[in-house]
Amino acid sequence: MRILVLNGSPHLNGATSDMVNAFKKGAEEAGNEVICINAAHKNIRGCMGCDYCRNIEKGVCVQKDDMQEVYPEILRADMVVFASPIYYFTLSAQLQAVIHRTYAIDIPANVKKTALIMSSGDKFVYAAAITEYFQSIVEYWGVENAGIFTANGDDNKSGKKRRELYRFGKSLTEE
Ligand SMILES: Cc1cc2nc3c(=O)[nH]c(=O)nc-3n(C[C@H](O)[C@H](O)[C@H](O)COP(=O)(O)O)c2cc1C
Repeated sequence: MRILVLNGSPHLNGATSDMVNAFKKGAEEAGNEVICINAAHKNIRGCMGCDYCRNIEKGVCVQKDDMQEVYPEILRADMVVFASPIYYFTLSAQLQAVIHRTYAIDIPANVKKTALIMSSGDKFVYAAAITEYFQSIVEYWGVENAGIFTANGDDNKSGKKRRELYRFGKSLTEE
């Protein structure tokens, strides 16, 4: 499988990236190709809602920023993994911008499954992010939810979490 990870954490060595790295290692060992995009280090603006992509040039976003390099990756991926720290009880703005900008391409027919990886300081702060993920991705795209993984407090950057994410990646074998 070709797996695209969209990481919304600005911390390249942070807790979200730690889980992503463990996932990537396992998934690659299982024979998958894993592409990671650090959305927080890209210039990706919010959707303007201009409907250019719907009314003028179908599937094409009028904003020529770094999202232009993300679109082809989404359209080539068999699986998309969303990874983010929790910022004010939801996904980071950087990851939300990427999700909103998929409005231009609408439902990527190639994507069959997704997963969600989140890091936070506290427990019980995932409800809004999970709702957004389910409603905007799993239900709207009509894809399989392959798993939701969270780490908070001492679990962040722990061996236990790394093993969990590694095992998840390793379980993703070609179908
Ligand atoms: C702007 C901001 C908002 C945050 N909001 C929350 C929050 O609502 N709930 C929470 O538990 N942690 C919150 N945190 C803490 C981060 O989720 C936590 O430190 C996380 O492990 C960071 O992941 P990272 O190392 O991948 O960036 C916030 C951090 C920042 C910078």
